Amino acid sequence: MKKKLVLTGASGKLGSTLINFLNKEYNLFPIGNKKKPKNGYKLDLTNKNKVENFLNKIKPEIIIHLVAITKVDFCEENFNKAHEINFLTTKNLVDWSEKKKIRFIYLSTDQLYDNSNLSDEKSANPKNFYAITKFLSEGVVLSLKNSLVVRTNFYGFFPKHKDSLIDWFINEIKEKRQVSLIKDIFFNPVYVKHLCDYIVKLIKARKAHGIVNLGAKNSISKGMFLYKVAKELNLKKFKSKFTNVKNIKLKAYRPKNMSMSVKKIENIFNKPMPTIEDGIFYLVNDLKSCNEF
Ligand SMILES: NC(=O)c1ccc[n+]([C@@H]2O[C@H](COP(=O)([O-])OP(=O)(O)OC[C@H]3O[C@@H](n4cnc5c(N)ncnc54)[C@H](OP(=O)(O)O)[C@@H]3O)[C@@H](O)[C@H]2O)c1
Repeated sequence: MKKKLVLTGASGKLGSTLINFLNKEYNLFPIGNKKKPKNGYKLDLTNKNKVENFLNKIKPEIIIHLVAITKVDFCEENFNKAHEINFLTTKNLVDWSEKKKIRFIYLSTDQLYDNSNLSDEKSANPKNFYAITKFLSEGVVLSLKNSLVVRTNFYGFFPKHKDSLIDWFINEIKEKRQVSLIKDIFFNPVYVKHLCDYIVKLIKARKAHGIVNLGAKNSISKGMFLYKVAKELNLKKFKSKFTNVKNIKLKAYRPKNMSMSVKKIENIFNKPMPTIEDGIFYLVNDLKSCNEF
């Protein structure tokens, strides 16, 4: 019999992609809040009673929790709201999961890292409110026996959501605006479909518990990343300038180097992680196949 899997944040960017990777193998219960995912449910996970009633009815064996407010500047100016959505939803799910044999997977962020070298799983250093709410949530998730925290950063093309880095970039180019390419923030994001592949494998990976970084093999500046995407798309004429993050008006502190060490995940699967260039190759193929360029 297929195992029952509750996927929260299923109407979001990662969730709406991940559904397609899970629905063959699992009896899937996708949850959104304002938007109802296909064959799924609308449920406000800040409401503890509703969470308990729902989970008591379903009795899932696996929970993958993706809900969050991911806008870093919004979280900085609305700490209570960020705490409610990012932390309280997690606490409600964890409280129900205690003393049950649940595989609980929680998606966290590379915003927890701010170190000069590659950060391993022990070196969290949260410095903005978004990162703090994710770090607090990780703490409650890790109190569960069979839980896994996946720290990551991902990119993809999400035309229904429009608020990701790539969607913003494509829109700026279409509007013929000059794009600021930030040269002093470094990260190692993965392509969303690679991330989904890994999440599926991590559900069953016995060696995977605690915290695991899930990033590309190599690191790159945010500006150079977008520049490479444009190059692969053959966009020769777009207007851009390389700049430092201090020249962009932002509300929250941004770590300069969020690059994650991926040694642990490479050991778990005995396989190197895809590189930034591998990910861009797949992204560009997908963009071309949906006639975006
Ligand atoms: N985006 C990134 O680049 C990135 C990077 C690193 C880590 N992450 C982590 O990856 C996860 C997924 O991110 P994402 O970008 O896919 O997020 P997203 O697109 O912003 O989606 C957020 C999801 O949370 C749901 N939600 C919000 N409030 C809720 C509530 N009260 N009850 C139930 N559901 C609620 C939303 O539902 P409705 O839309 O239906 O209201 C939506 O499905 C997050 O945990 C994030 O921290 C993201």
